[in-house]
Amino acid sequence: MSNSLLHKKILITAGPTYERIDPVRFIGNFSTGKMGFAIAEECAARGAEVTLIAGVTSLSISHPNIRRIDVESAIEMYNAAIQAFSETDIAILSAAVADYRPLQFTDEKIKRNEGENLTITLIPNPDIAATLGQMKKPHQTLVGFALETNNEEENALKKMKKKNLDFIVLNSLKDSGAGFGHDTNKVSILFANSEKKSFELKSKKEVARDIVNVLMDNMLMC
Ligand code: C5P
Repeated sequence: MSNSLLHKKILITAGPTYERIDPVRFIGNFSTGKMGFAIAEECAARGAEVTLIAGVTSLSISHPNIRRIDVESAIEMYNAAIQAFSETDIAILSAAVADYRPLQFTDEKIKRNEGENLTITLIPNPDIAATLGQMKKPHQTLVGFALETNNEEENALKKMKKKNLDFIVLNSLKDSGAGFGHDTNKVSILFANSEKKSFELKSKKEVARDIVNVLMDNMLMC
């Protein structure tokens, strides 16, 4: 394994965020964090110092060069990412961050009211990727992920531009074996100049290797 990421500081977000409604309920999503954890291991194996900000997941890490920060909500992930970013060379944002959180958290479990609807008001969460995109300095590289159900490439390209990303990894939800929970994934990588690299369905470990290879090629071009 080449050590060509030696001394590089890499920030990775992974997994879902949980947005609490009351002490026993939350709004979440099906992300497991497997893709982000595989990227963290790959970067560390190539010599990088990795900070992994992980949402709620049962996964564990093995490489000693990975510093793991566990968070629960989008706000916690946002604060941890902002704090770490100035010391970062490359940020890879693979987390499935909740777009909204409940306006109110109630200390007591919400009771069922027979026959009545329950309305929970949701307010927008901060966009970590867009904020880091605004803070980004010329020596820093920012990589995002997109999971789309329609007009995939068009939406992913819009996101890349809006959030000031250097490239974006587009996950497929249409291919079986790709996306949440699986041990395999199928991705395309889109660049700002509309160039595209597509990969076959592979294990997430191999996909992580492909993504880090692209990252390193991109750094050599800078
Ligand atoms: O949710 P969306 O499709 O806009 O996510 C695209 C990218 O932005 C992903 O890399 C995701 O991790 C990141 N993101 C974020 N903070 C959010 C929403 C998304 O960092 N609040």
